Formats: sequence, C-alpha cells, structure tokens
Amino acid sequence: MIFTKDDFGPNFHWGVSTAAYQIEGAHDSDGKGPSVWDQFVSKKGKIQDGSNGNHACNHYHNYAEDVALIQSLNIPNYRFSIAWSRIFPEGVGNINQAGVDYYNRLIDACLASDVVPWITLYHWDLPLALQRKGGWVNREVLHWFEEYVTACVKLFGDRVKNWMVLNEPMVFTGAGYFLGYHAPGVKGIKNFVPAMHHATLCQSLGGRIIRDLRPDAHIGTTFSCSHIDPASQETKDIKAAKRFDALLNRLFIEPAMGLGYPVEDLPIAKRVEDYLEVDDEKNMPFDFDFVGLQNYTREVVRHNWYIPYLQGQIVKAEDRDVERTEMGWEVYPKGIYKMLKRFNSYENVKSILVTENGVAFDDQVDSGYVKDPRRVKFLQSYISEVLKAKRNGVKVDGYFIWSLMDNFEWAEGYAPRFGIVHNDFETQKRVVKDSGYWYSRFLKSSKVMLSDDPKKSMV
Ligand code: NOJ
Repeated sequence: MIFTKDDFGPNFHWGVSTAAYQIEGAHDSDGKGPSVWDQFVSKKGKIQDGSNGNHACNHYHNYAEDVALIQSLNIPNYRFSIAWSRIFPEGVGNINQAGVDYYNRLIDACLASDVVPWITLYHWDLPLALQRKGGWVNREVLHWFEEYVTACVKLFGDRVKNWMVLNEPMVFTGAGYFLGYHAPGVKGIKNFVPAMHHATLCQSLGGRIIRDLRPDAHIGTTFSCSHIDPASQETKDIKAAKRFDALLNRLFIEPAMGLGYPVEDLPIAKRVEDYLEVDDEKNMPFDFDFVGLQNYTREVVRHNWYIPYLQGQIVKAEDRDVERTEMGWEVYPKGIYKMLKRFNSYENVKSILVTENGVAFDDQVDSGYVKDPRRVKFLQSYISEVLKAKRNGVKVDGYFIWSLMDNFEWAEGYAPRFGIVHNDFETQKRVVKDSGYWYSRFLKSSKVMLSDDPKKSMV
C-alpha cells in the first residue's frame, strides 16, 4: 500500500503529544505546589535510574522555542497537559496566578504559531495536598476535580477548543493505586476499586463541565489499549485473556459509552457495588465528541492460578522471540488496527483520535544527527494500519505521535527515548531526529509517499 497524507483527508488531525510532569521541569517554581509525582520520585528505588522530573526538558522555560520547533516541523496540533498543582497549589482553593500565566503564554505561543493547542486536563499529577486526603480513593475527588476543571475551562476555554479529560485512567489507577509502581505508590484492591470508580465518574463529569461552559468545545478523553491474544488455544488461557481484555481495554471506555462496567468478564469489577451511590450509573456515560485511543503494543496472556483476582499473567515479549523496543514492548502494528476496529464498534463512539502512538529506542546523537530508522519504520507501519482502518470504515480522525521530545518516562526515568526530537537533559539541547524530519516532510507535502513496506517509501 502506497499513500500520502492526502489519503487521510483534509480534516485529519496530525499532531504530537506531551504531558506536564514529563517535560515541564520547574517543579517548585512560581508558586507551583507539589504533586504525587514530586513526592514519589523522592522515594528510594521507585525510579529505575534514580532520576526525577524536577527539571525534565525545562519546557516551562523553553516552551516558546519548543512551540517554534513544532511549527517548523509542520506539525499542526500540539497536545499537552496542565499540571493541576500549578493552578491550585493546594489542589483546591487559591489560584496561583503565575501558573495560569504560564499556560496563557503557552497557549498564546501556539496560536501565534498556527499550532492548535489540545489540552489534557489530567495526566497523572494529582496535587499532593489532595493525596494526603486519600486522592482518587476519596469520593471528595469529584468536588476537587469539578473545581479544577471549571477553573481551567473558564481560564483557557476562550482560546482552546480541544479538550481531553483524563489520560489513561487504567494506568494511573492500576499502576498508582493497585500495583503501587506509579505515584502515589498505593496498593491493593481496596484502593483500586474506589479509585477506578471515582475516575470513571470524573471522566464524564469533566465532559459535562466543559460542555456546559463551552458548548462549542471539542471534547474527548483518552484510553490506553492493547490487543490481547491468549498464549494458547486452551480454554483456561482464552478465559484469562478475556479477563485481561476486560481490565485493560474495556473497564473505562464501556461505562463512558453507557454500557456499565464489564462485570461479567471481570469479576473484580463487581466490587464497585460497595462504592456505588444513587445516580452514579446514570452519571457514568457522556457523549464525548471523540475518544482518544493510545496504543503501543499487544499483550499475550496465559492462565496462572496463583495470580490474585485475575488468575492470569502477561507473557513478556522477551520470552516470545519478537521484535522489541527499549521498553521491552513487542512491535505489533496490526494491534492498532484491531483496537481501532474494536473502539469503532461501540455504537456511541462518534470519532476516534489516536492521541498517542510511538516508540522508545536507544537513540544517540552522532555528529549532530540522530539516525533512528527503526522509529521511522515503526511509525510508518502503524500509520499504514490507521489508514487501513479508515479505509475500512473506522471513524478515525487524528493521529498524534508520542512524543515531541525525549522526556521523563515515569518509573523508567530517562532511559527510554520516545521523542522525534532528541533532548540532552544536561544542556537542554534539542536535536531533531531523522523521524522528526521524516514526519515533517510527510506533513508538508502531498507528494511524499509512504508505504507499509518501508523499502518502497519515497521520503
Ligand atoms: C502513555 C502515557 O500517557 C505517557 O505518559 C507515556 O509516556 C507513554 N504512554 C509511553 O509509555
């Protein structure tokens, strides 16, 4: 298959994504309050390379150059998140004007450069003051979130049309409140289930607040997803794969789409009954203008009686003799096609945007250049699958690369480099990688032809 960007149509949204804690740095500047991540990184052994996001890419001070870079690469859309504790240092109450000023500068720089801003309201950095009251486990989070979202939409909604409520709720509740390997490092089913339910309620609540305040806004929320295969055709593996699928791919999108929690395929979801209040089920759905699909890999699952709640486990890519990335994830372009088809099959999905897709490799600067042919190949093959889905009737209307530049990859620290721009974290020197130039040429000219067979591409 040979294609150009024109094959996606003139209204397709091409972009790059980032998140506040991963790039901003300036962790305690200008009145910002601490977030759960500021605290988590200071605990021994939590981050693989012992690093933190204190300075990260210093986007807080370098935003103007970074936006100019996005523009120079012909990238029309920039997705970034707001750090809640820059706006409300204590989570609620007093607004920190310096934090508001920063996002105003960033938004205005985008608009002045013809780069459309897309805001994620919550990309995992809960104000620490709120975690001290239980964070997502405490139902009060609905009120805190309401105050925060209302303020952001009132402050920035005059210029920002595109909003995403939550980033990957499965990951911040699962890794943060069940397994404890992300902030705030809380563990156990007793924390996970209420955190999950409150995130579900906030997901739709956020949508309603934006719609009420800005009826013309374009509103979405994002979901992590990975196609899942059973390790064998044995019934027990197939059943385990189904449980993982319900947990990883259905738990948050289905209540938003009006289908409730997938309790039949995921018995632990029944425990939500202990936290359900009157009207909760009525309040879980919201008619999002789009859903954000975030896909990187696939998972293979096999039955394991000893794993609590799930009786199954993921078979790591390193044990499967497949092509892997720096994260140890399998390269599996067909997975994005399969997940696009699945999300598209929900009756209430109006439009899907791939709000994250990308890959980490061990990129090096060599004489001023970063040659990353594996990333070019990766992106090309995933983008071909997106086009295939579109041609087969999937309502997919956008594609954002994760990420603009190398950044702080949470518990993995700075080793995995996801950027299409290389960053030197000592000097903050940005070097556009070959993949960045490749994306730029693809977006600039309809003459640039890609192929799902990279040897045939003319870029
Ligand atoms: C998902 C998250 O939204 C983002 O923060 C993370 O860096 C990427 N995927 C890569 O793991």
